[in-house]
Amino acid sequence: MRNQTTENQDAGETWSIGNLKIIGKVILAPMEGYTDQPFRQLCGSYGSSTLHVSEFINAIDIIHGHPYIVKNRVRHADNESPMAFQIFDNDPARIVKAAHQLLQYEPDLIDINMGCSVKKVSNRGAGAGLLRTPQKIATVFTQLVKNLPVPVTGKIRLGWDETSRNYLEIARIIEDCGGAALAVHGRTRDQGYSGRADWDAIAEIKQTIQIPVIGNGDLTTLAEAKKMQAYAKCDAVMIGRAAIGNPWLFAGISKMELLTDELLSIIQIHLNTMVDFYGETIAVVQFRKHAVSYLSHFHLTSDERRRLLTTTTHHGFIQALVDLRLPQRI
Ligand SMILES: Cc1cc2nc3c(=O)[nH]c(=O)nc-3n(C[C@H](O)[C@H](O)[C@H](O)COP(=O)(O)O)c2cc1C
Repeated sequence: MRNQTTENQDAGETWSIGNLKIIGKVILAPMEGYTDQPFRQLCGSYGSSTLHVSEFINAIDIIHGHPYIVKNRVRHADNESPMAFQIFDNDPARIVKAAHQLLQYEPDLIDINMGCSVKKVSNRGAGAGLLRTPQKIATVFTQLVKNLPVPVTGKIRLGWDETSRNYLEIARIIEDCGGAALAVHGRTRDQGYSGRADWDAIAEIKQTIQIPVIGNGDLTTLAEAKKMQAYAKCDAVMIGRAAIGNPWLFAGISKMELLTDELLSIIQIHLNTMVDFYGETIAVVQFRKHAVSYLSHFHLTSDERRRLLTTTTHHGFIQALVDLRLPQRI
């Protein structure tokens, strides 16, 4: 396999959040259901930033000691450093309590989710719903910064809707209350994923606050990542959806350059690490969505898809993959 990071000339750039040193300015954005330890490790091997962020974790589940938190969400490898655990909730007291409970799993940072647009999260005032209650955000950051031994960061959208784009107010609050960095997805909650991310708003935030700003939204290549960084003068950027089924993106490699054998070998590495992490039964099911993305450029028949996506064993999956007899070029 090719040398994975050589094509990403900027993978070695350093910057910092508080006194945490970070290598690389192109960060894998947290994505629930995708960016578990195996996928973060894979993206890391292609040169994504050494700053890793967990999938979001519900404060209520943390407080109740839900088993998936220990089995999955807070597990991270030694080389995932700094490692941020991300919390979401609408209740400041619960967020603070949950953050304290998470300290036992040794995060380097605690990150607060103020960007999730999913209705069942945001409509109860959590995720992007918190943007409607700036006072709660002030309470969360003040309490956490005062009491936690690690830096506290936030990830926001631009506001709830077009009539309430309060990102500058929120950014100032987070900085004034001691937040150590801010990631910004350049859309409102109402936009979901429609329209284009607003780079001007990210630039405005960068001009307004002194703490590091991480720009995010719609980036699909390293070249675009560089463009956003130059345009908004942000300290780093995050890439989310474009990395799914495409982890070599962080090395500046396009899927179309890969030989099918290389693609198949990466698929197997990813599946193997998921089997080690989750055990076979869960891994094979969880891997299906990754497989669909990895193979999106091939026109599989419905029979081929069914065979691949209904197999329940590791061996069965690999056999189904081989049986596809994919052409050597994507
Ligand atoms: C399936 C999915 C799950 C996500 N889960 C999270 C999450 O757990 N925490 C978070 O801060 N953002 C989450 N996001 C938002 C991404 O981090 C990112 O802000 C958004 O996708 C925009 O970036 P992109 O255009 O590069 O994908 C999620 C996005 C997707 C598509």
